[in-house]
Amino acid sequence: MSSLPSSAAAPRPAQILVIDDEPDLRTLYELTLLREGYRVEAAGSVSEAWQHLEAGRFDAVITDMRLPDGEGMEIIHRIQKDQRSERCVVMTAYGSAENAVEALKAGAFDYLTKPVDLKQFRAVVASAVQANRAAVVVPQKPAPQAAGHGGERPDVLSVTRSGATALDRLVGDSDPMRLVKSRIAKVARGMAPVLVRGESGTGKELVARAVHGCSQRSEGPFVAVNCGAIPENLLEAEFFGAKKGSYTGSSQDRDGYFQAARDGTLFLDEIGDLPLAMQSKLLRAIQERSVRAIGSTQEDAVDVRIVSATHKDLHAEVLAGRFRQDLFYRLNVIEIAVPALRERREDLPALCTALLARIAQDGGLPVPRLSDALLQRLAQHPLDGNVRELENLLHRAVALNDGDELHIDLMGAMTPMPAAPRGESAEAPPAVAVAAAPAPAAEPKPAPPPLPSDLQAWLDQQEREILVRALHESGFNRTAAAARLGMSLRQIRYRIARLGISTPNGDDGTTAHADD
Ligand SMILES: Nc1ncnc2c1ncn2[C@@H]1O[C@H](COP(=O)(O)OP(=O)(O)OP(=O)(O)O)[C@@H](O)[C@H]1O
Ligand SMILES: [Mg+2]
Repeated sequence: MSSLPSSAAAPRPAQILVIDDEPDLRTLYELTLLREGYRVEAAGSVSEAWQHLEAGRFDAVITDMRLPDGEGMEIIHRIQKDQRSERCVVMTAYGSAENAVEALKAGAFDYLTKPVDLKQFRAVVASAVQANRAAVVVPQKPAPQAAGHGGERPDVLSVTRSGATALDRLVGDSDPMRLVKSRIAKVARGMAPVLVRGESGTGKELVARAVHGCSQRSEGPFVAVNCGAIPENLLEAEFFGAKKGSYTGSSQDRDGYFQAARDGTLFLDEIGDLPLAMQSKLLRAIQERSVRAIGSTQEDAVDVRIVSATHKDLHAEVLAGRFRQDLFYRLNVIEIAVPALRERREDLPALCTALLARIAQDGGLPVPRLSDALLQRLAQHPLDGNVRELENLLHRAVALNDGDELHIDLMGAMTPMPAAPRGESAEAPPAVAVAAAPAPAAEPKPAPPPLPSDLQAWLDQQEREILVRALHESGFNRTAAAARLGMSLRQIRYRIARLGISTPNGDDGTTAHADD
């Protein structure tokens, strides 16, 4: 492990408390940890553990579940309740997955299954210690006008600096967004799986990245996988890797996403799209914390934190028999619900500013000015496609911009094809640049076409057609196609993958991308 406590960076050895009622096991754990250079104290019961905890602070507490005078869970609950900084690791009997899940839900950092494998034991303790040390308190941003919120709120976030940066990327200071951010900061440090839920375009991937960024794994890889974009017959190899010659065309050993995400975070996007057969295999990998590459006889331990995301109602998917209940419980230990834009309209100005700055920077352009009138019109726009739709609108506006002040073609932006599926909006379809002033519709308009029965499917179809056309017209050069559409390479890759568009050079974006 890279995080040995004896490294020069550590000013004092980390302090560990081990709680187990079996004297032999206690000795074994103590010796193992002492050999790693930790300072170790040991207790055989809940009450003894409390004596140690009252007398001092520890970096990590490792506890057995069943103790003579109570449950290990009591210790976790109390450490949480007292807001102590110790990271807790529980040791659960083999096969009692519910206990592990319960402990993680209660705030345990991680769990180990008995009989404890000493190598894993050392690794888990090292990562708990590292997590504890990486946490520094970042003072809350001074709330400029906290009016209406009853003054200062007690959600001081205890995150690393890289975490603060990751959280800053999530623009929005509305109550629902603050809740999301404080939840991210709170859960990031643990190992418990996180499920990010929210409508399309709400920022689920940004949330997942923030969880990674706020964790002690932030230096490790963040591997994002779109579960819906991988052909079913390739899933196992993509997830777990494959040995040379194990299937047609494999001329060398290949790592899967799990191996690529080692010591980092594996982001399983659109987890609701994973076929049932693969769900079982994924569950097994999560439970065993090890994977077997296709064609290999050996299981490899992988230390990976799982964050998944879905826009589907997974509970309903479970009821419909399309999603395994046990996997759902495993992935859903911690849930973060990302609010739709309509639930946080007050974030619109800040979002516009941030998105415009990013778009201008990506394109090497000056940041255009957004007038109040335009902002007002945007605020009246439904924006059911959430931040993604807003981003697309602004992208288009910047691309067509020819002055200091930005103009937005709200109708046109939503309707690249002649059909306009918008209902209420009373704006006349303007030409490219329209004055930002609220323009009453003076001319008679043709009757609007019928509303689409499935807006998302309709939008996806429009997007697909545009992407395919741009790709064709640019000879399938994705960089060129992206530039024409005013987006970054990463964005177009994401969209290509999301919509399952295949490109002739084979890199159709269905492979994972490891960044950072
Ligand atoms: N709070 C936010 N602040 C700044 N940008 C945001 C925010 N939320 C979303 N975005 C931007 O909007 C776009 C969509 O976000 P993201 O891909 O994370 O959404 P998603 O929920 O995963 O969408 P989908 O369900 O379509 O996959 C991205 O370009 C992202 O950077
Ligand atoms: Mg997404």
